[in-house]
Amino acid sequence: MAHVRSLFFTGAASESEAKAQAAKKAGHPSSLIWNITNRCNLKCSHCYMAADAHILPDQLSDEETIQLVDRMHEAGCPVVFISGGEPMLRPNFWEILERVHECGIKPTISTNCTLVTEDNAQRLKDNGVKWIATSLYGTREYHDELTRVPGTYDKVMAAVRTLRAHDIGVVLKTAITVGNWPFIFDMIQIAKDEGVGIFYICDLITSGRSEGEEALRITKEQWRELCDFIVDDMLDPDSHMEYDIGAIPSTIPYIAEKFIERGVDVSKGLERLSLFSACPVGQGHMAINSAGDIMPCQFSQEWTVGNIRDMSIEDAVKLLRALDEQPSEGQCAPEVCAYTHICRGCRVKAWMRTGAENGGNPHSEDFSCILNKAEGERDVDLAAAGAAAGAAAGAAPCKTICGH
Ligand SMILES: C[S@@+](CC[C@H](N)C(=O)[O-])C[C@H]1O[C@@H](n2cnc3c(N)ncnc32)[C@H](O)[C@@H]1O
Ligand code: SF4
Ligand code: SF4
Repeated sequence: MAHVRSLFFTGAASESEAKAQAAKKAGHPSSLIWNITNRCNLKCSHCYMAADAHILPDQLSDEETIQLVDRMHEAGCPVVFISGGEPMLRPNFWEILERVHECGIKPTISTNCTLVTEDNAQRLKDNGVKWIATSLYGTREYHDELTRVPGTYDKVMAAVRTLRAHDIGVVLKTAITVGNWPFIFDMIQIAKDEGVGIFYICDLITSGRSEGEEALRITKEQWRELCDFIVDDMLDPDSHMEYDIGAIPSTIPYIAEKFIERGVDVSKGLERLSLFSACPVGQGHMAINSAGDIMPCQFSQEWTVGNIRDMSIEDAVKLLRALDEQPSEGQCAPEVCAYTHICRGCRVKAWMRTGAENGGNPHSEDFSCILNKAEGERDVDLAAAGAAAGAAAGAAPCKTICGH
């Protein structure tokens, strides 16, 4: 998760980013993603949670969910992303939301929007919801085929309009694959036309119903094309779109390089990245699943570090922070990659690739780095890029990009 505009300039996510940074500095959780249920009314073909009609047998009870909200509050958590499965299917969804609001925690709801109506849009607003994050995958035909429920595309589009009419901000999210790559630029245009504030693009995580589907991931060239588009769009004075990029942190140094090539001052972004690397693992960020398991990231459903039933949120933050203290390895190691301090590589992909069944090594290299064509073969000469950037900014190369 990296909000590109708010990172380098000022954007729709600046307020929540500032809150997250302050929380991290204070040793509090900076952001928390909470899958309150695994149950879902859709059956998306790519779902990393393999969500369906079932709930987990050891799901947190209603009482435990309310206690957990209170514990988040006591631990100084500024924002919570209430997700699922489909969170609005959980019978005590509104009770949870009301408690979050009463505690002063800022809620964002991550929902497939099939249950958003006029009435409950107002109820969401009354409970302090400023942002709803919902998913769009392409054309009507493609979206409905992927979610395996006809009519879903129309429900999402109707909900987006309802939410905007209630002045609730909308984040449109897509997991990008070779299947919906042909629609990505049209989806961004739809988002702009519908008054969507943030467009989130996530690399495919090959777990759950996507397990083993490596061939569905778009290429590094396509990621670079997408980043080039984002850079152009962010330099267009008429565009205010906030872009959020998930599970592929190397896009951030790539974008920084492109801004530098265009003579754009990236010092604010680099300063922020020196506090928060592009991969959020160990940065105060955490995810909690519907059974209370604590995870370094929402995509690491099988890489858990404890359970909220027997671990405090404060201890979980400390435990997760220790992950950030160990250097990344291989092509992401500090002696190999000048960008490791601001990027770190995706720790979940590293963990998954080294074999969940063997315990996983979250510090191993991120094979999906878009700065490389293949192992050992760089598209971008990092040293030269740093030197050119340094000359342009009148600073030492390392200072310009890495801040060290
Ligand atoms: C698990 S869903 C939960 C919230 C809600 N049900 C929804 O679909 O928006 C959260 C987000 O994860 C994304 N997602 C699901 N499987 C994924 C995968 N394998 N890789 C990347 N993102 C994925 C979905 O597209 C969705 O935007
Ligand atoms: S991606 Fe969301 S809507 Fe789709 S099956 Fe998974 S939890 Fe349900
Ligand atoms: S090599 Fe690793 S740390 Fe360096 S930019 Fe690529 S993914 Fe990030």
